[in-house]
Amino acid sequence: LGRIPVAVLGRLRATWLSGKTRPMEYRVAQLEALGRFLDEKKQDILEATASDMGKPPFEAEFTEILLCKNELHETLNNLSHWMKDKHVDKNLVTQLDSAFIRKDPYGVVLIIAPWNYPIYLLLVPLIGAIAAGNCVIVKPSEMTKNSERLVAEVLPSYLDNDCFAVVTAGVQETTMLLENKFDYIFFTGSSSVGRIVMAAAAKHLTPVTLELGGKNPCYVSDTCDVQNVAQRVAWGRFYNAGQTCIAPDYVLCSVEMQKKLLPALDKAITDFYGPKPQESPDFGRIVGDKHFQRVQTLLRSGRAVIGGQTDEKERYIAPTVLVDVQPSDPIMQEEIFGPILPIVTVANMDKAIDFINSHERPLVVYAFSSNDKVVKQVLERTSSGGFCGNDTLMHVTLTSLPFGGIGNSGLGMQHGKFTFDTFTHHRGCLHRGMGREALNALRYPPYSQQKLGLVRAASEVKRKGSPGISAAAPGVLGA
Ligand SMILES: *[C@@H]1O[C@H](CO)[C@@H](O)[C@H](O)[C@H]1NC(C)=O
Ligand SMILES: *[C@@H]1O[C@H](CO)[C@@H](O)[C@H](O)[C@H]1NC(C)=O
Repeated sequence: LGRIPVAVLGRLRATWLSGKTRPMEYRVAQLEALGRFLDEKKQDILEATASDMGKPPFEAEFTEILLCKNELHETLNNLSHWMKDKHVDKNLVTQLDSAFIRKDPYGVVLIIAPWNYPIYLLLVPLIGAIAAGNCVIVKPSEMTKNSERLVAEVLPSYLDNDCFAVVTAGVQETTMLLENKFDYIFFTGSSSVGRIVMAAAAKHLTPVTLELGGKNPCYVSDTCDVQNVAQRVAWGRFYNAGQTCIAPDYVLCSVEMQKKLLPALDKAITDFYGPKPQESPDFGRIVGDKHFQRVQTLLRSGRAVIGGQTDEKERYIAPTVLVDVQPSDPIMQEEIFGPILPIVTVANMDKAIDFINSHERPLVVYAFSSNDKVVKQVLERTSSGGFCGNDTLMHVTLTSLPFGGIGNSGLGMQHGKFTFDTFTHHRGCLHRGMGREALNALRYPPYSQQKLGLVRAASEVKRKGSPGISAAAPGVLGA
């Protein structure tokens, strides 16, 4: 396999240089083919994600298909507009020239996708990369074998293989793949692998987007509609069996709120998955044995008041709520990425904010309160990739919002136009006329104080509200 990327890369590099991917019609045709893939292979996608991780068909259809199609349609609807040169303000000297931003593709880009949403998190960046006019290598996760096979065997039959390729690779082969020079790398996965990707990219000075994880805090204030909060938190935590980078990772609330929240969470979980969640068709499984062992170990922190059962054969972990969790417990040291919700009690909002700010910056901060001021304070006084007040996960469904991390939770952003911009080099261009050389003489040696004054008058950016352009300027223009 080590050989394949070299041949593939050569082919894509040649296509990139030929300019084939630049015309809008070409990009639109490839994007429409992606749409046909989603329509025609819907059943295969549902089956692959069900066999990989027991993904409920509803969740697969909503996230893997519907949200992808939203991104696709938003991109197709706006591409001609996004691609256009953007003309910008000019100074006096360049008044008669053309200054614009050209939306250039980067070239040959690499997209490394994770396993938790194996289609969605592969296609969303792919849509942006194709829309921006790049040649693309995508590497699906080797953890979800059925989805990987589907992508590797079927997706290429929809796309132009001169400019698009799927590479399957494990850890070792991916390391080798990363030794190649790409023009952009878009990685979604863990912070630890993100560091490896960024280090490899640094060797070639390749720009990166890193969509990483994080322990997303969820503050629940003392005034709120407890049952609604419980439903929204349980849905976000147990969706995809907790294997969601933006899932609320833990709840921060007062002891009094915890007392009210526990029966409400219990009711929400029973309403959602019935008295035996293991038999529910709407609750997923942990992706692999290694992850199952890891998540199972985290159950030793605190005390399970809801759930706690596991079944290794099925890689089943019950929707679980833990109390008496100490900040020093193992479950508070890493992103859980499983169906466990620890509750950490704090005295009040200020203490919750202190807690959040004493940890790595998360991918999202959640805050629930009937009091607007509380939600706004949590937003104002914390830092995270994104924010959602009074709900969980829903911010991700808007293509109008940038999605991405900060600090430990990643760098760069995607969704809608933000994905297009991520895969676009904003090339600053100035086209000048060849005449009016008398004007240019101002900046040529021999220098003089008088020339400097004229140059300043013609090119200076003035602070708003300061006196207008100097008397010399009209003379400059009229020269
Ligand atoms: C996309 O197109 C729609 C409809 O033309 C428009 O309302 C919307 O503002 C556009 N979005 C962006 C981000 O350009
Ligand atoms: C949160 O929900 C409550 C109850 O519906 C509402 O009063 C409050 O304004 C919401 N907060 C924000 C910031 O929208």
